[in-house]
Amino acid sequence: MEKKTLTIPYEEYTSINELSAEDRALLEAAIDATKGSYAPYSHFNVGAAVRLEDGTVVKGANQENAAYPSGLCAERTAMFAAGAQYPGVAIEALAVICARDGSLMLNPGSPCGACRQVMAQYERMAMKPMRIILGSGGPILVFEGVQSLMPLIFNDL
Ligand code: THU
Repeated sequence: MEKKTLTIPYEEYTSINELSAEDRALLEAAIDATKGSYAPYSHFNVGAAVRLEDGTVVKGANQENAAYPSGLCAERTAMFAAGAQYPGVAIEALAVICARDGSLMLNPGSPCGACRQVMAQYERMAMKPMRIILGSGGPILVFEGVQSLMPLIFNDL
């Protein structure tokens, strides 16, 4: 037996102004997307935005439902909308932001496992890493690909 350790590389920015122009625009789109959040149960508003390889930006926001499992996270709302409207166009980056009562959270939210699995599939279809930007009112974390968020991921393709 050999003990092994995985390390997760990521970048931490202290302000949205430190991001490149295109990452900043994507995070701003995610912030704007929180306006579309329907969260009468959790009151937790999540916005997401994906940037496609042709520069198109598609937004999503969490959508809740009285039958709880019928709701969907912001990340999957955005990715599925992009997949449905622009089939075959690679998603190259995804930004996520969380807010409560109209104020951005002080720390980045972390995508759930189901969203990470969906990210992995779109990343695999794109055949290039998906840049993931987790924003907040405080630090902003940037990951170079889904493998960083979900090591040893299941892939059947
Ligand atoms: N949610 C997201 O939209 N994305 C995440 O990464 C985590 C959680 C939503 C689901 C639900 O509407 C609310 O946040 C509370 O869990």
